[in-house]
Amino acid sequence: MLNSLISRRRLIATGTLASAGAALSKLAFGAAPADAKPTLGTVPAYLGSSPQTLPPLPYAENALEPVISARTIGFHYGKHHRAYFDNLHKLLAGTPLAQASLEQLIMQTHDQPNLSDVFNNAAQAWNHNFYWNSLSPVATQPSEKLQAAIVRKFGSVEALTKALVATSASQFGSGWGWLVVDQGELAVVKTSNAETPFTRGLAPLLTVDVWEHAYYLDYQNRRPDYLVATVSQHLNWAFASANLDRI
Ligand SMILES: [Fe+2]
Repeated sequence: MLNSLISRRRLIATGTLASAGAALSKLAFGAAPADAKPTLGTVPAYLGSSPQTLPPLPYAENALEPVISARTIGFHYGKHHRAYFDNLHKLLAGTPLAQASLEQLIMQTHDQPNLSDVFNNAAQAWNHNFYWNSLSPVATQPSEKLQAAIVRKFGSVEALTKALVATSASQFGSGWGWLVVDQGELAVVKTSNAETPFTRGLAPLLTVDVWEHAYYLDYQNRRPDYLVATVSQHLNWAFASANLDRI
């Protein structure tokens, strides 16, 4: 992996962002045609563009207590989330990809085993950006548009939150639970490890982190307790409503 990384960095350090994309494609697929179009930039418009920079937490580390402790968020944000950005910087320093957005990196590298190190760190950086904004210290309400979509698909907000807890709790190992829009309809899905729904055409509205580092200091093995408390008290429905409006 180290040799392939070094050769990849040598290749992409000598070109533009577009040719870097082509180089990455050739490495990943082995025999891309000479006129193959790089896929960097094929990011759904609703996602926007996130820099490879750790954003500030949208609230104080103790703002979600007692559901999520300041100690948990201190480690989760200050160590785990920061490490994904630090790893990306090490992988991509000195290459044109150092300027690519997280969304471009994710779309370019998903499902490419040779590039899993870039994908995992970019996707975990993005997922955590989204997670902090999916939580709110204060109570929020869905917009009329989101409320109507929830009632149409799940019957009620309570039924949706039960489905989100059940689906998230059932994720085997590390991963994420999500409220998404799938072909115009709301859906609850889960993803493994660093996987993120938008690589499959699903538009995320909210997420909950079910990696152990999200809850183990506070709840140990009681993942469902973390999920019930977090989903019932701290989901940011205003964030979900704004995401729905962008799709
Ligand atoms: Fe996490």
